[in-house]
Amino acid sequence: MPATIITGLQWGDEGKGKISYLLCRDADCVVRFQGGANAGHTVIVSGKKLKFNMIPAGSAAGAMPCIASGTVVDLDEVFEELDLLRSLGFETKFMISRAANIVLPIHKKLDAMIEELRGGRAVGTTRRGIGPTYSDKALRAGIRIEDLLDRNALMDKLEILKKVHDLEIENSDKLIEYGNRIKPYVGDVELFVNNLLDEGKKVIFEGAQGTLLDIDHGTYPYVTSSNTIAGAACTGCGIGPTRIDEVVGVMKAYSTRVGAGVFPTELFNELGERIREIGQEFGTTTGRPRRVGWLDMPLLRYAVRISDVTWIALTKLDVLSGLDKIKICTEYDLRGKTVEIAPPSVKLLRDAKPTYIELDGWGKMTKEDWKAVSERGWDALPDEAKTYIETIEKLVNKPIKLVSVGAEAGLEVMK
Ligand code: IMO
Ligand code: MG
Repeated sequence: MPATIITGLQWGDEGKGKISYLLCRDADCVVRFQGGANAGHTVIVSGKKLKFNMIPAGSAAGAMPCIASGTVVDLDEVFEELDLLRSLGFETKFMISRAANIVLPIHKKLDAMIEELRGGRAVGTTRRGIGPTYSDKALRAGIRIEDLLDRNALMDKLEILKKVHDLEIENSDKLIEYGNRIKPYVGDVELFVNNLLDEGKKVIFEGAQGTLLDIDHGTYPYVTSSNTIAGAACTGCGIGPTRIDEVVGVMKAYSTRVGAGVFPTELFNELGERIREIGQEFGTTTGRPRRVGWLDMPLLRYAVRISDVTWIALTKLDVLSGLDKIKICTEYDLRGKTVEIAPPSVKLLRDAKPTYIELDGWGKMTKEDWKAVSERGWDALPDEAKTYIETIEKLVNKPIKLVSVGAEAGLEVMK
Protein backbone atom coordinates (compact mmCIF):
# COMPACT_ATOMS: atom_id res chain seq x y z
CA MET A 1 0.00 0.00 0.00
CA PRO A 2 1.67 3.24 -1.10
CA ALA A 3 0.34 5.55 1.65
CA THR A 4 -0.02 3.98 5.07
CA ILE A 5 -0.72 5.79 8.33
CA ILE A 6 0.36 4.24 11.62
CA THR A 7 -1.69 5.48 14.54
CA GLY A 8 -1.82 4.64 18.25
CA LEU A 9 -5.20 3.40 19.50
CA GLN A 10 -4.62 3.93 23.23
CA TRP A 11 -2.68 6.39 25.39
CA GLY A 12 0.60 6.13 23.49
CA ASP A 13 3.40 3.61 24.02
CA GLU A 14 1.59 0.99 21.93
CA GLY A 15 4.80 -0.04 20.20
CA LYS A 16 4.40 2.13 17.11
CA GLY A 17 8.19 2.31 16.69
CA LYS A 18 8.58 -1.40 16.07
CA ILE A 19 5.54 -1.59 13.79
CA SER A 20 6.84 1.36 11.80
CA TYR A 21 10.19 -0.37 11.47
CA LEU A 22 8.52 -3.54 10.17
CA LEU A 23 6.35 -1.68 7.66
CA CYS A 24 9.28 0.47 6.54
CA ARG A 25 11.42 -2.43 5.43
CA ASP A 26 10.08 -2.01 1.90
CA ALA A 27 9.11 1.68 2.13
CA ASP A 28 10.78 4.63 0.45
CA CYS A 29 10.01 7.30 2.99
CA VAL A 30 8.77 7.63 6.57
CA VAL A 31 7.22 10.83 7.94
CA ARG A 32 6.59 12.26 11.40
CA PHE A 33 3.61 14.63 11.08
CA GLN A 34 2.67 15.69 14.61
CA GLY A 35 4.03 15.90 18.15
CA GLY A 36 7.65 16.39 19.06
CA ALA A 37 10.25 14.89 21.36
CA ASN A 38 7.49 13.78 23.74
CA ALA A 39 7.36 10.65 21.59
CA GLY A 40 9.63 7.75 22.48
CA HIS A 41 9.82 5.23 19.66
CA THR A 42 12.09 2.26 20.21
CA VAL A 43 13.35 -0.30 17.75
CA ILE A 44 15.52 -3.28 18.66
CA VAL A 45 17.43 -4.69 15.72
CA SER A 46 20.10 -7.39 16.02
CA GLY A 47 20.20 -6.89 19.77
CA LYS A 48 20.77 -3.14 19.44
CA LYS A 49 18.26 -0.83 21.10
CA LEU A 50 17.61 2.31 19.08
CA LYS A 51 15.59 5.12 20.61
CA PHE A 52 14.00 7.86 18.57
CA ASN A 53 12.20 10.95 19.83
CA MET A 54 12.07 13.15 16.71
CA ILE A 55 13.25 11.22 13.67
CA PRO A 56 10.72 8.55 12.64
CA ALA A 57 11.81 5.15 13.95
CA GLY A 58 11.04 3.50 10.61
CA SER A 59 14.19 5.14 9.27
CA ALA A 60 16.17 2.42 11.06
CA ALA A 61 14.87 0.11 8.32
CA GLY A 62 16.38 2.33 5.66
CA ALA A 63 13.37 4.44 4.62
CA MET A 64 14.19 8.12 4.15
CA PRO A 65 13.07 10.10 7.21
CA CYS A 66 11.05 13.31 6.92
CA ILE A 67 9.71 15.68 9.54
CA ALA A 68 6.62 17.54 8.33
CA SER A 69 5.16 20.92 9.25
CA GLY A 70 2.67 19.62 11.81
CA THR A 71 5.41 18.73 14.28
CA VAL A 72 7.19 20.79 16.92
CA VAL A 73 10.88 20.22 16.53
CA ASP A 74 13.57 19.73 19.13
CA LEU A 75 16.70 20.30 17.05
CA ASP A 76 19.14 18.85 19.59
CA GLU A 77 17.26 15.56 19.31
CA VAL A 78 17.22 15.75 15.52
CA PHE A 79 21.01 16.14 15.33
CA GLU A 80 21.58 13.37 17.85
CA GLU A 81 19.30 10.95 16.01
CA LEU A 82 20.83 11.78 12.63
CA ASP A 83 24.15 10.76 14.17
CA LEU A 84 22.52 7.53 15.31
CA LEU A 85 21.35 6.80 11.76
CA ARG A 86 24.82 7.56 10.46
CA SER A 87 26.30 5.12 12.98
CA LEU A 88 23.96 2.47 11.55
CA GLY A 89 25.52 3.05 8.19
CA PHE A 90 22.71 5.01 6.61
CA GLU A 91 23.62 7.87 4.41
CA THR A 92 21.41 10.47 6.02
CA LYS A 93 19.15 11.67 3.31
CA PHE A 94 16.67 13.55 5.44
CA MET A 95 14.20 16.38 4.92
CA ILE A 96 12.57 18.71 7.41
CA SER A 97 9.77 21.11 6.56
CA ARG A 98 10.65 24.79 6.54
CA ALA A 99 7.26 25.40 8.14
CA ALA A 100 7.72 23.24 11.25
CA ASN A 101 7.80 25.19 14.50
CA ILE A 102 10.76 24.73 16.78
CA VAL A 103 10.82 24.12 20.52
CA LEU A 104 12.92 26.71 22.35
CA PRO A 105 14.34 26.35 25.86
CA ILE A 106 11.74 28.91 26.97
CA HIS A 107 8.98 26.47 25.93
CA LYS A 108 10.39 23.77 28.18
CA LYS A 109 10.62 26.27 31.01
CA LEU A 110 6.99 27.30 30.43
CA ASP A 111 5.90 23.66 30.27
CA ALA A 112 7.39 23.07 33.74
CA MET A 113 6.00 26.36 35.10
CA ILE A 114 2.45 25.60 33.94
CA GLU A 115 2.64 22.12 35.43
CA GLU A 116 3.71 23.61 38.79
CA LEU A 117 0.83 26.09 38.61
CA ARG A 118 -1.65 23.27 38.07
CA GLY A 119 -0.49 21.61 41.29
CA GLY A 120 -2.75 18.60 41.97
CA ARG A 121 -4.28 19.01 38.53
CA ALA A 122 -0.99 18.67 36.66
CA VAL A 123 -1.26 16.83 33.33
CA GLY A 124 2.00 15.00 33.91
CA THR A 125 3.56 16.23 30.69
CA THR A 126 6.91 15.04 29.42
CA ARG A 127 8.17 18.63 29.96
CA ARG A 128 9.49 18.65 26.42
CA GLY A 129 7.87 22.04 25.76
CA ILE A 130 5.16 20.59 23.52
CA GLY A 131 2.13 22.56 24.78
CA PRO A 132 3.81 25.99 24.89
CA THR A 133 5.33 25.52 21.42
CA TYR A 134 1.98 24.60 19.88
CA SER A 135 0.30 27.47 21.70
CA ASP A 136 2.85 29.98 20.34
CA LYS A 137 2.23 28.49 16.90
CA ALA A 138 -1.53 29.02 17.31
CA LEU A 139 -0.79 32.57 18.47
CA ARG A 140 1.19 33.06 15.26
CA ALA A 141 4.16 33.91 17.43
CA GLY A 142 6.11 30.70 16.85
CA ILE A 143 9.59 30.33 15.41
CA ARG A 144 9.71 28.18 12.31
CA ILE A 145 12.63 26.26 10.86
CA GLU A 146 12.83 28.79 8.00
CA ASP A 147 13.25 31.64 10.51
CA LEU A 148 16.58 30.16 11.60
CA LEU A 149 17.87 30.84 8.10
CA ASP A 150 17.13 34.57 8.23
CA ARG A 151 18.76 36.51 11.07
CA ASN A 152 16.66 39.67 10.73
CA ALA A 153 13.35 37.85 10.63
CA LEU A 154 14.47 35.77 13.59
CA MET A 155 15.42 38.80 15.70
CA ASP A 156 12.03 40.43 15.04
CA LYS A 157 10.14 37.30 15.98
CA LEU A 158 12.20 36.69 19.12
CA GLU A 159 11.50 40.27 20.21
CA ILE A 160 7.73 39.66 19.98
CA LEU A 161 8.02 36.32 21.75
CA LYS A 162 9.96 37.97 24.57
CA LYS A 163 7.14 40.47 25.04
CA VAL A 164 4.41 37.83 24.82
CA HIS A 165 5.92 35.78 27.62
CA ASP A 166 7.63 38.56 29.53
CA LEU A 167 10.57 36.20 29.91
CA GLU A 168 14.15 36.35 28.73
CA ILE A 169 14.75 34.44 25.50
CA GLU A 170 18.00 32.68 24.77
CA ASN A 171 20.39 34.50 22.48
CA SER A 172 19.81 34.28 18.78
CA ASP A 173 23.41 33.29 17.91
CA LYS A 174 22.80 29.75 19.03
CA LEU A 175 19.64 29.59 16.91
CA ILE A 176 21.49 30.87 13.85
CA GLU A 177 24.11 28.19 14.46
CA TYR A 178 21.30 25.59 14.53
CA GLY A 179 20.02 27.14 11.32
CA ASN A 180 23.38 26.61 9.64
CA ARG A 181 23.45 22.99 10.72
CA ILE A 182 19.89 22.21 9.64
CA LYS A 183 20.03 24.17 6.37
CA PRO A 184 21.09 21.28 4.10
CA TYR A 185 18.01 19.33 5.16
CA VAL A 186 15.36 22.05 4.94
CA GLY A 187 12.80 21.57 2.17
CA ASP A 188 9.18 21.43 1.16
CA VAL A 189 8.39 18.10 2.75
CA GLU A 190 4.73 18.42 1.80
CA LEU A 191 5.39 18.72 -1.95
CA PHE A 192 8.15 16.12 -1.77
CA VAL A 193 5.88 13.52 -0.18
CA ASN A 194 3.03 14.22 -2.59
CA ASN A 195 5.44 13.78 -5.50
CA LEU A 196 6.65 10.46 -4.08
CA LEU A 197 3.05 9.26 -3.95
CA ASP A 198 2.55 10.35 -7.57
CA GLU A 199 5.49 8.16 -8.49
CA GLY A 200 3.89 5.19 -6.72
CA LYS A 201 6.49 5.19 -3.95
CA LYS A 202 5.63 3.74 -0.56
CA VAL A 203 5.33 6.25 2.26
CA ILE A 204 4.68 5.44 5.92
CA PHE A 205 3.22 8.15 8.15
CA GLU A 206 4.46 7.39 11.66
CA GLY A 207 2.03 8.77 14.23
CA ALA A 208 3.11 9.65 17.74
CA GLN A 209 1.13 9.42 21.01
CA GLY A 210 -2.32 7.83 20.74
CA THR A 211 -6.00 8.49 20.09
CA LEU A 212 -6.88 9.07 23.74
CA LEU A 213 -4.17 11.76 23.97
CA ASP A 214 -5.57 13.69 20.99
CA ILE A 215 -6.20 17.32 21.90
CA ASP A 216 -9.73 17.28 20.41
CA HIS A 217 -10.69 13.64 20.60
CA GLY A 218 -8.92 12.47 23.75
CA THR A 219 -9.42 12.73 27.50
CA TYR A 220 -9.06 16.52 27.56
CA PRO A 221 -7.37 18.21 29.40
CA TYR A 222 -5.22 15.14 30.13
CA VAL A 223 -3.96 15.01 26.56
CA THR A 224 -1.05 16.17 24.46
CA SER A 225 -1.23 19.40 22.43
CA SER A 226 -1.64 17.98 18.94
CA ASN A 227 -4.10 15.88 16.97
CA THR A 228 -2.89 12.31 17.08
CA ILE A 229 -5.62 10.47 15.12
CA ALA A 230 -5.04 9.23 11.56
CA GLY A 231 -6.52 12.38 10.04
CA ALA A 232 -3.64 14.37 11.51
CA ALA A 233 -1.32 12.83 8.91
CA CYS A 234 -3.27 14.73 6.24
CA THR A 235 -3.18 18.11 7.97
CA GLY A 236 0.31 17.65 9.41
CA CYS A 237 1.87 16.77 6.07
CA GLY A 238 -0.41 18.40 3.51
CA ILE A 239 -1.71 15.13 2.09
CA GLY A 240 -5.24 14.98 0.71
CA PRO A 241 -7.45 12.48 2.58
CA THR A 242 -8.23 10.49 -0.57
CA ARG A 243 -4.53 9.73 -1.08
CA ILE A 244 -4.37 7.52 1.99
CA ASP A 245 -4.54 3.80 1.23
CA GLU A 246 -4.64 2.26 4.67
CA VAL A 247 -4.58 3.03 8.35
CA VAL A 248 -2.81 0.65 10.69
CA GLY A 249 -3.99 0.97 14.29
CA VAL A 250 -1.43 -0.14 16.86
CA MET A 251 -2.67 -1.43 20.19
CA LYS A 252 -0.97 -3.14 23.09
CA ALA A 253 -2.41 -6.44 24.42
CA TYR A 254 -3.35 -4.52 27.61
CA SER A 255 -3.68 -0.82 28.47
CA THR A 256 -1.15 1.63 29.87
CA ARG A 257 -1.16 5.32 30.55
CA VAL A 258 1.64 7.59 31.71
CA GLY A 259 0.66 10.89 33.28
CA ALA A 260 -2.63 11.87 34.92
CA GLY A 261 -6.24 11.39 33.79
CA VAL A 262 -9.10 8.86 33.84
CA PHE A 263 -8.37 5.20 33.17
CA PRO A 264 -11.49 3.05 33.68
CA THR A 265 -9.77 -0.36 33.52
CA GLU A 266 -6.72 0.54 35.61
CA LEU A 267 -5.30 -2.20 37.84
CA PHE A 268 -4.26 -1.06 41.30
CA ASN A 269 -3.18 -4.48 42.54
CA GLU A 270 -0.17 -6.74 42.46
CA LEU A 271 -1.15 -8.03 39.04
CA GLY A 272 -0.82 -4.50 37.64
CA GLU A 273 2.66 -4.27 39.15
CA ARG A 274 3.58 -7.63 37.70
CA ILE A 275 2.52 -6.61 34.20
CA ARG A 276 4.41 -3.32 34.61
CA GLU A 277 7.59 -5.21 35.53
CA ILE A 278 7.33 -7.87 32.83
CA GLY A 279 6.27 -5.36 30.19
CA GLN A 280 8.96 -2.90 31.30
CA GLU A 281 6.29 -0.22 31.44
CA PHE A 282 8.48 2.74 32.25
CA GLY A 283 8.51 5.83 30.02
CA THR A 284 11.16 5.88 27.26
CA THR A 285 11.19 9.66 27.34
CA THR A 286 10.86 10.30 31.08
CA GLY A 287 11.49 6.98 32.85
CA ARG A 288 8.20 7.32 34.78
CA PRO A 289 6.33 4.12 35.73
CA ARG A 290 3.28 3.67 33.53
CA ARG A 291 -0.17 2.91 34.92
CA VAL A 292 -1.40 -0.51 33.77
CA GLY A 293 -4.87 -1.98 33.13
CA TRP A 294 -6.98 -4.40 31.06
CA LEU A 295 -8.10 -3.76 27.51
CA ASP A 296 -10.97 -1.29 27.22
CA MET A 297 -13.25 -2.09 24.27
CA PRO A 298 -15.55 0.96 24.49
CA LEU A 299 -12.50 3.22 24.04
CA LEU A 300 -10.84 0.96 21.47
CA ARG A 301 -14.02 0.85 19.37
CA TYR A 302 -14.04 4.64 19.51
CA ALA A 303 -10.39 4.87 18.46
CA VAL A 304 -10.88 2.42 15.59
CA ARG A 305 -13.95 4.37 14.49
CA ILE A 306 -12.48 7.87 14.34
CA SER A 307 -9.31 6.82 12.55
CA ASP A 308 -11.20 4.38 10.31
CA VAL A 309 -8.58 1.74 10.97
CA THR A 310 -8.02 -0.80 8.16
CA TRP A 311 -6.26 -3.40 10.29
CA ILE A 312 -4.71 -3.72 13.71
CA ALA A 313 -1.20 -4.54 14.87
CA LEU A 314 -1.36 -6.06 18.36
CA THR A 315 1.81 -5.68 20.44
CA LYS A 316 3.35 -7.09 23.61
CA LEU A 317 1.21 -10.21 23.66
CA ASP A 318 4.16 -12.03 25.25
CA VAL A 319 3.86 -9.88 28.39
CA LEU A 320 0.58 -11.59 29.33
CA SER A 321 2.13 -15.09 29.32
CA GLY A 322 1.77 -17.05 32.53
CA LEU A 323 -1.35 -15.24 33.72
CA ASP A 324 -4.08 -17.50 34.99
CA LYS A 325 -6.94 -15.37 33.66
CA ILE A 326 -7.03 -12.36 31.35
CA LYS A 327 -9.87 -9.87 31.46
CA ILE A 328 -11.30 -7.65 28.74
CA CYS A 329 -13.72 -4.81 29.41
CA THR A 330 -16.41 -5.32 26.76
CA GLU A 331 -18.74 -2.47 27.75
CA TYR A 332 -19.49 0.01 30.50
CA ASP A 333 -22.38 0.30 32.80
CA LEU A 334 -23.09 4.00 32.87
CA ARG A 335 -25.72 4.96 35.41
CA GLY A 336 -27.69 1.85 34.48
CA LYS A 337 -27.15 2.18 30.73
CA THR A 338 -24.93 -0.13 28.66
CA VAL A 339 -22.27 1.70 26.64
CA GLU A 340 -20.40 -0.18 23.90
CA ILE A 341 -18.54 2.68 22.28
CA ALA A 342 -17.43 5.66 24.31
CA PRO A 343 -16.06 9.06 23.45
CA PRO A 344 -13.21 9.71 25.90
CA SER A 345 -15.02 12.38 27.87
CA VAL A 346 -13.50 12.70 31.32
CA LYS A 347 -16.93 13.35 32.84
CA LEU A 348 -18.45 10.27 31.27
CA LEU A 349 -15.53 7.95 31.95
CA ARG A 350 -15.41 8.93 35.59
CA ASP A 351 -18.81 7.26 36.11
CA ALA A 352 -18.24 4.31 33.80
CA LYS A 353 -18.24 0.89 35.46
CA PRO A 354 -16.42 -1.65 33.25
CA THR A 355 -18.11 -4.98 32.54
CA TYR A 356 -15.48 -7.68 32.08
CA ILE A 357 -15.29 -11.05 30.40
CA GLU A 358 -12.61 -13.43 31.59
CA LEU A 359 -10.50 -15.57 29.30
CA ASP A 360 -8.08 -18.36 30.10
CA GLY A 361 -4.43 -17.42 30.03
CA TRP A 362 -1.64 -19.49 28.52
CA GLY A 363 1.49 -20.83 30.14
CA LYS A 364 4.80 -19.12 30.77
CA MET A 365 6.87 -18.73 27.64
CA THR A 366 10.56 -17.88 27.27
CA LYS A 367 12.00 -15.64 24.61
CA GLU A 368 13.20 -18.80 22.86
CA ASP A 369 9.63 -20.15 22.85
CA TRP A 370 8.42 -16.92 21.22
CA LYS A 371 11.22 -17.09 18.70
CA ALA A 372 10.05 -20.57 17.74
CA VAL A 373 6.47 -19.32 17.46
CA SER A 374 7.65 -16.44 15.22
CA GLU A 375 9.46 -18.84 12.97
CA ARG A 376 6.57 -21.28 12.69
CA GLY A 377 3.83 -18.68 12.37
CA TRP A 378 0.26 -18.20 13.52
CA ASP A 379 -0.57 -21.88 14.08
CA ALA A 380 2.24 -22.16 16.62
CA LEU A 381 0.60 -19.68 19.00
CA PRO A 382 -0.87 -21.22 22.17
CA ASP A 383 -4.61 -21.90 21.69
CA GLU A 384 -5.57 -19.52 24.51
CA ALA A 385 -3.52 -16.74 22.90
CA LYS A 386 -5.30 -17.33 19.59
CA THR A 387 -8.63 -17.14 21.40
CA TYR A 388 -7.58 -13.89 23.06
CA ILE A 389 -6.62 -12.35 19.69
CA GLU A 390 -9.76 -13.59 17.95
CA THR A 391 -11.93 -12.32 20.79
CA ILE A 392 -10.43 -8.85 20.40
CA GLU A 393 -11.01 -8.99 16.63
CA LYS A 394 -14.64 -9.87 17.19
CA LEU A 395 -15.19 -7.23 19.85
CA VAL A 396 -13.62 -4.44 17.84
CA ASN A 397 -14.78 -5.77 14.45
CA LYS A 398 -11.42 -5.33 12.70
CA PRO A 399 -8.77 -7.85 11.62
CA ILE A 400 -5.56 -8.20 13.61
CA LYS A 401 -2.96 -8.96 10.95
CA LEU A 402 0.24 -8.64 12.90
CA VAL A 403 0.98 -9.79 16.45
CA SER A 404 4.19 -8.72 18.13
CA VAL A 405 5.51 -11.16 20.74
CA GLY A 406 8.70 -9.42 21.83
CA ALA A 407 10.40 -6.06 21.59
CA GLU A 408 12.93 -7.17 18.99
CA ALA A 409 12.26 -7.13 15.29
CA GLY A 410 11.78 -10.76 14.28
CA LEU A 411 9.58 -11.62 17.23
CA GLU A 412 6.21 -11.30 15.52
CA VAL A 413 3.57 -13.31 13.77
CA MET A 414 1.63 -12.33 10.67
CA LYS A 415 -1.90 -13.61 10.24
P1 IMO B 1 4.65 7.88 22.09
O1 IMO B 1 4.79 8.43 20.70
C1 IMO B 1 2.88 8.05 26.04
C2 IMO B 1 1.55 12.00 27.52
C3 IMO B 1 2.29 12.55 28.71
C4 IMO B 1 1.17 13.36 29.36
C5 IMO B 1 0.44 13.93 28.16
C6 IMO B 1 0.86 15.34 27.80
O2 IMO B 1 5.89 7.29 22.65
O3 IMO B 1 3.48 6.94 22.16
P2 IMO B 1 3.02 16.33 26.61
O4 IMO B 1 4.46 16.29 27.00
O5 IMO B 1 2.73 15.73 25.29
O6 IMO B 1 2.44 17.71 26.73
O7 IMO B 1 2.28 15.45 27.72
O8 IMO B 1 0.72 13.06 27.08
N1 IMO B 1 2.41 11.61 26.37
C7 IMO B 1 2.71 10.34 26.04
N2 IMO B 1 2.44 9.17 26.65
N3 IMO B 1 3.55 8.03 24.89
C8 IMO B 1 3.81 9.19 24.22
O9 IMO B 1 4.33 9.18 22.99
C9 IMO B 1 3.43 10.41 24.82
N4 IMO B 1 3.58 11.72 24.49
C10 IMO B 1 2.93 12.42 25.43
O10 IMO B 1 2.75 11.52 29.54
O11 IMO B 1 0.28 12.52 30.04
MG1 MG C 1 6.09 7.01 24.79
